[in-house]
Amino acid sequence: MNRIRIAVQKSGRLHDDSLKLLKDAGISIDNGREQLKATSGNFPLEVFYLRNGDIPQYLRDGVVDAAIIGENVLVEKGEDIIVAEKLGFSKCRVSLAVPKSAKYSGVEDLQGARIATSYPNTVRDYLSKKGVTADLHIINGSVEIAPNIGLADAICDIVSSGSTLFKNNLKEVEVMLKSEAVLAVSPEISSERKEVLEKLQFRIKAVLRARS
Ligand code: PRP
Ligand code: MG
Repeated sequence: MNRIRIAVQKSGRLHDDSLKLLKDAGISIDNGREQLKATSGNFPLEVFYLRNGDIPQYLRDGVVDAAIIGENVLVEKGEDIIVAEKLGFSKCRVSLAVPKSAKYSGVEDLQGARIATSYPNTVRDYLSKKGVTADLHIINGSVEIAPNIGLADAICDIVSSGSTLFKNNLKEVEVMLKSEAVLAVSPEISSERKEVLEKLQFRIKAVLRARS
């Protein structure tokens, strides 16, 4: 039988819940997290542990058949990738934030502002729809520190509990999108593997129904 190859976040906020979902779907995966690949003993499936930001390209190229990934990553890097199922966990927002002390009356206040972010496409699209042009500084992590060190006037990043914003004296001023984990499918998936994926999806749906 054709094994499907599914990408799961290597580390980070989706990792544990993604594996939990597979486990609840009755799929056992014997791994050391040290390994970048694991095989299921009771379902024709291989798991690849990958970096979030790399997953859209792997899907596009058909290196993996499917992925459990945040919608926010697809919006940023993979708008062409098909979402098969919303998975109901890792809910977050992608938002713009400014220092608490800053006066903010609307998105037009960000005209010409320096914005630090790991989501340049998302921010650019959002602002351009509002007729605003900003100066984007792309950084890969710890974005919320940028205003405090004088690197930026505003930031755009994921907000979940809000505690990172709070700790860095920032306030959320625009919610650009709401996101959750999804099952995404490669446009290159073969019909044989598609059948296996549908079996997986059937099980996932049952788990989600039981959870709700
Ligand atoms: C993520 C994200 C935010 C924070 C949001 O960062 O980039 O900073 O979590 O979560 P919260 O609203 O619950 O505080 P992460 O801790 O994953 O680190 P990184 O930015 O360095 O990747
Ligand atoms: Mg962060």
